[in-house]
Amino acid sequence: MLDKTLKPAVSANELLEQFHSSRQYSCDLIKNLSAEDCQSQSMEDASPAKWHLAHVTWFYEVMVLKPYEQNFAFWNPAFAVLFNSYYNGIGDKHPRTQRGLLTRPALSEVLEWRKNIEDRVTKLLKENSSPDVLWLIQVGINHEQQHQELLLTDIHHLFSQNSLYPAYSSQNKAVAHADTPFQWIEGVGGLVEIGFDGEGFHFDNEKPLHTALNPDYFLANRLVSNSEWLQFTEDGGYKNFKWWLDAGWAWLQAHQISAPLYWNKKNDTQLFRFSLEGNSPLDMHAPVANISYFEADAFARWASENIPHLSGARLPTEFEWEAFAKNKPVQSKDLFGKVWQWTSSNYNPYPGYRPWAGAAGEYNGKFMVNQMVIRGGSVYTPADHSRVSYRNFFPTHARWQMTGLRLAKF
Ligand SMILES: [Fe+2]
Repeated sequence: MLDKTLKPAVSANELLEQFHSSRQYSCDLIKNLSAEDCQSQSMEDASPAKWHLAHVTWFYEVMVLKPYEQNFAFWNPAFAVLFNSYYNGIGDKHPRTQRGLLTRPALSEVLEWRKNIEDRVTKLLKENSSPDVLWLIQVGINHEQQHQELLLTDIHHLFSQNSLYPAYSSQNKAVAHADTPFQWIEGVGGLVEIGFDGEGFHFDNEKPLHTALNPDYFLANRLVSNSEWLQFTEDGGYKNFKWWLDAGWAWLQAHQISAPLYWNKKNDTQLFRFSLEGNSPLDMHAPVANISYFEADAFARWASENIPHLSGARLPTEFEWEAFAKNKPVQSKDLFGKVWQWTSSNYNPYPGYRPWAGAAGEYNGKFMVNQMVIRGGSVYTPADHSRVSYRNFFPTHARWQMTGLRLAKF
């Protein structure tokens, strides 16, 4: 059965509240969207909003209700295939690249199905508050939160394909100032404790807690801003192979990359950035966002040689970032809630890592190759879904997430 070391640190009642509020939040996120908005898939990496709403429901149906509900029956057995993301242990999957073709079930049926599963999970939780059930529901809540963030990043990308530049929201979600004077802050060198430590929910990839050796290093007190990034572009940063990893240079040329995703020019002159609030003049003080690992790495190399106070700049390792966030959080701005921060760490298992038992074992471990770790959280990350030990990860070219950077140096 499930790993008994994973003890839910909440009561059934608290969990029920968290469950309902996370389910409600997903529905809140599509309040300003039409059924057509929820249907479209703008690229392979992105999924339709409707698919996200369905897939997180599938997770509860297959992972929680199927093994634990008395007289379990699928709402529709075909959905088990349509909304399976990547779980080979569970069965067949509809191709990821063709999620946008699923015009059936309609959004209205997905919402009905959501309600049905919610009622059944609620009933189950009231009848069976065993540690296994509580823990699986916690996984379900955290899983849905990850998809809430993806839903926003995917809608952002979808809307960016439309020259009407539709605004998803009038709330000023994206503007986050990075205009604090720059400062290097001494890091936490020597032996440091890395990983999740404590009670409560965490993913398997944050364990085990272990010791790592950090060099003596410094971390920037703030994120890299758009104005700093503009200096890089204006200095021909995207045109000089000198700053780029070989794979990054090939990627840049193949895709004709010359600026962060969502930067655009109006009348060929003024720089704009498209966000969920629509297309607006680029805010020079905001942290740069939607850059790939390749771009973050190239920027650091360029900055090290071209900006005197950034001499020696590089990307931090995830251990440098985490030791800092655990020990000196108040000295550093915007560790969370603005943009994810690229690290130079490959997404590898920690020493002694064990994936979760059962079907959930496919959640993280099988992705531990060819990806880099990002740390922190973004403006799209649900409020209670950030931790100092949280490890997110993306391939080196990905940039539709709200990814930015914070510099480090020896
Ligand atoms: Fe998922």
